[in-house]
Formats: sequence, structure tokens, C-alpha cells
Amino acid sequence: MVSLLENPLRVGLQQQGMPEPQIIVIFGASGDLTWRKLVPALYKLRREGRIPPETTIVGVARREWTHDYFREQMQKGMEEAHASVPLGELWQDFSKGLFYCPGDIDKPESYQKLKTLLTELDEKRNTRGNRMFYLSVAPNFFPEAIRQLGGGGMLDDPYKHRLVIEKPFGRDLASAQSLNQVVQKYCKENQVYRIDHYLGKETVQNLLVFRFANAIFEPLWNRQFVDHVQITVAETVGVEDRAGYYEQAGALRDMLQNHLMQLYCLTAMEAPNSMDADSIRTEKVKVLQATRLADVPNLSRSAVRGQYSGGWMKGKQVPGYHDEPGVDPNSGTPTYVAMKFMVDNWRWQGVPFYLRTGKRMPKKVSEISIHFRDVPSRMFQSASQQRNANILAMRIQPNEGISLRFDVKMPGAEFRTRSVDMDFSYGSFGIQATSDAYDRLFLDCMMGDQTLFTRADEVEAAWQIVTPALSVWDAPTDPATIPRYEAGTWEPAEAELLINQDGRNWRRL
Ligand code: BG6
Repeated sequence: MVSLLENPLRVGLQQQGMPEPQIIVIFGASGDLTWRKLVPALYKLRREGRIPPETTIVGVARREWTHDYFREQMQKGMEEAHASVPLGELWQDFSKGLFYCPGDIDKPESYQKLKTLLTELDEKRNTRGNRMFYLSVAPNFFPEAIRQLGGGGMLDDPYKHRLVIEKPFGRDLASAQSLNQVVQKYCKENQVYRIDHYLGKETVQNLLVFRFANAIFEPLWNRQFVDHVQITVAETVGVEDRAGYYEQAGALRDMLQNHLMQLYCLTAMEAPNSMDADSIRTEKVKVLQATRLADVPNLSRSAVRGQYSGGWMKGKQVPGYHDEPGVDPNSGTPTYVAMKFMVDNWRWQGVPFYLRTGKRMPKKVSEISIHFRDVPSRMFQSASQQRNANILAMRIQPNEGISLRFDVKMPGAEFRTRSVDMDFSYGSFGIQATSDAYDRLFLDCMMGDQTLFTRADEVEAAWQIVTPALSVWDAPTDPATIPRYEAGTWEPAEAELLINQDGRNWRRL
């Protein structure tokens, strides 16, 4: 998004609109993310001719796999998770660029071995010393991996060496700050890509276009016209086979502090001076700094957690969180969280932002809805007897699109109104807006564009907001006191109350 002349880093990394050949080193390569999302995203870029054929991937993990076994695993993953993608000759060529290096995160000799392999591959595959180190390991390993990479001289060149860090970035404000310190010891900020895959989603990027390429909405986008905003990310899946990770994370660290807060920032921030990475990220930090939980002394009025109990999903019985494999039967980890934010700035003073996310909800749906103030005086009777304020809904997934709800007159002699939706659907472009988003993020990182990645101060500001809730929720809790919701239903009653107490309701999606 920045011109090449403005950003020398990008000049160093790209040639004729394509990134330079480079080696992508994935730590945690035996994990699901690698075969489900990362390697398929890189293969997609290769099929589309957007990365050079020399692009090389090196998987690093503890298991003693060989290069060939790693290739087989990745191919199996493609066949399982992306069955419609043709493999054929191009895959054969792509998979020649897949390598594997067994190693331990905390053993210096593993990094020496890796370094030797990378130097050999530079020769063999013409990758010119360009490296991306992608940390897809459990978050507690991030600091050690960075220390070892940095200590081994593998992050020395700010133009050729990039570091990608998966979320969650830290467990709380203090650990995020100390992780940032480790990062800053070995890297310049322009080498660091804190990833949040929501920012790679087409419809999330469209939020910027919607807000800042259209003149008619901006005058309404403030406290004078907006009553409140709701941000929902509901999932139907449970914890799946990720209890090891999820038990430590829970809905707040896994989803709200990152994905939902990114949606929040893009909705609430001021217009950036330009579309370059730092202008956008600076505006996000500014709005985060103005944001707080609505009522900290009475936490339950601004933050609610929940856990799913057993229930039915699509006619199938599913276990409660405590009965999921690998979950402690006394676990206090939330699988649902709702928060009410207030923003102390001129645009939003007094306008609540309600955020909620949960697993095992009735529907997979992510949406931002702007609820406008009602008319000053109601002159017409509504056919539905409901309060029909205008709602602008931005659907992130599925059925990506935007709709605007307004009232029309019902045909007939009386003045009775009814709400209708004016709808734009991404489907009308005839192309799918959804992708796993990793392709876009890989490409940006390979090109040196940090716009869609989180800056150090941004991630800290996001932690700061949720700290009052974390400090209460992280204390030992009797699990029986955590609100429950049945799998396949919407939020617990306590979360209904969070919004009902203000005379509002969660939008039924
Ligand atoms: C990941 C979380 O970051 O996002 C998962 O770790 C969650 O728990 C996933 O299921 C949701 O992503 P998406 O793109 O399916 O909405």
C-alpha cells in the first residue's frame, strides 16, 4: 500500500511486483495449522503465480521426520483439507521446495543445524539469504525461539530476515511487554509481523474501504447518530483436539483480545492520514488508548464469561466443555466471553460497543452491526410491534456482505411500517470473498508490507483494556460459578443481562 520509494524495505524484498525468492521456516511444522492453512496458502500463491518457484519451505518440529515424510504429510493435508485443489505436476515441483529439520526450540544445536541447512538451500534454491521465520508454536515457546534465532545471528539483517509471530501475543499485558522486549532486543520493528488472520480476510479489509471510500456514512459514524455497536464472532465448533492450547487460552485470549479487537479498531478508529502501515496502525492504537471496559468496579456489568455444557448441534449430541478430551473436569477456562467497551473520545463518548464470541453457538457467523439511534418521535405503527432502528450490518463470514435495515410502508390503506434489508453480497461478484486469509498475509510479509500486522504498542494497548477482567478471571475460581450455556444455544443468561440492562438486545443472527 505504500509506494516503493517510501519504503526501502519493500524494495529489498520484491522484484517486479513479486517477492524475492525466500525460505519460509515454520516452527511447529508438525501441528495442524501447517498442513491445514500455511502450506495450502503458499501453494495457492504459487498456483496463482504470485510467488517465485524458488520459494522454499522448511518445517521445524520435534518429531524425527524426514524431508520426504514431511512432503507426504503436506500432500495428505492438501488432499484432506483442500480436496478440490488440483495437485498434479505443479504440486510435484512445489513439494520439491519442502524440507524438514527436526529440532528442539530450546537447544542451540537445533538452530546450528537449521542454519547449516538454510545456507545449503540458499545455494541449491537460489533464495539469496532471504528468510521468514514463522513461529507457529505454543505461545510459551515464543521468547525462547526468538532468543535462539537472534542469538544465533539469524535475525541480524533487517532487510532479509523477518519474524512472524502467531497469536496470542503474550498472556496478559506484562507478558506481552516482556515478549516485546525480547523481540526488540533482536529485531527492528519493521522485521516483525505479529499475525492476526482476521486482518487477512477480504471482508475485514473491506471495512476500511467501506468507511473511507464512501462519503455518506462518515457523517453518521459517531455519537450523534449511533446508538450502539455489536461485534459478534460465533463459532459452531467446540474445542476440537486443541485442549492443550485452549485450556491455557480460553475465549478471551484466543479470540477477543485479537480477532474481535481488530474488528473493533477498524470500526471505531479515525480516518488514517494515508493507507500506509503506520498511519493505520497509529489510528488503531489511538482508539485502543481511548477504550475501557464500561464498569470495572462492577465487572459483571461489562464482562461476562461462559462455558458450554453438553447439548445438541444439528441433531447430534455433543459433550460439554468439561467432557472434551484433554480438558480438566474442573477447568475454569471460558469458551464464551462478552464485553462492553466505552470509548472516551469525541466521536464515541457514551456509545457502547458490545463484543461477544463463543464456541458451540448455534451458527458460525461473524458480524459487525451499527445500530443507529431511533427517530425522535414515532409516527407510524410497526407491523412487527418491534422497535425498528436502522441497522447497518457488515457480515464478515459467511455470506459475506453488507446490509442496511430501514423501514418501509406496508402496502395498504394504513400507515404501517416494516423493516427491510437492502443487501450487498460479495457473492454477486461471482468470486468467493472468503479465503483462509493466510495467503494474503504471507504475500504481504514476503513483500515487507506491515499494514495488516499488529504493532508492538497496539498489542499492548489491547491487553491493557482487558486486564481488569483477566485479573479477576485468572484468580482460582470455583468452576461451578462460571455461567453455562448449552451447546447449540446462544449466550448464557448473564451475557443477555449485560446488554439487556441497557435496554438493548443482542442481535439474533
Ligand atoms: C483461531 C482460533 O485464531 O481462529 C480458533 O485459535 C478459531 O479457536 C479460529 O476457531 C476462527 O477462525 P475463522 O477464520 O474460522 O473465523
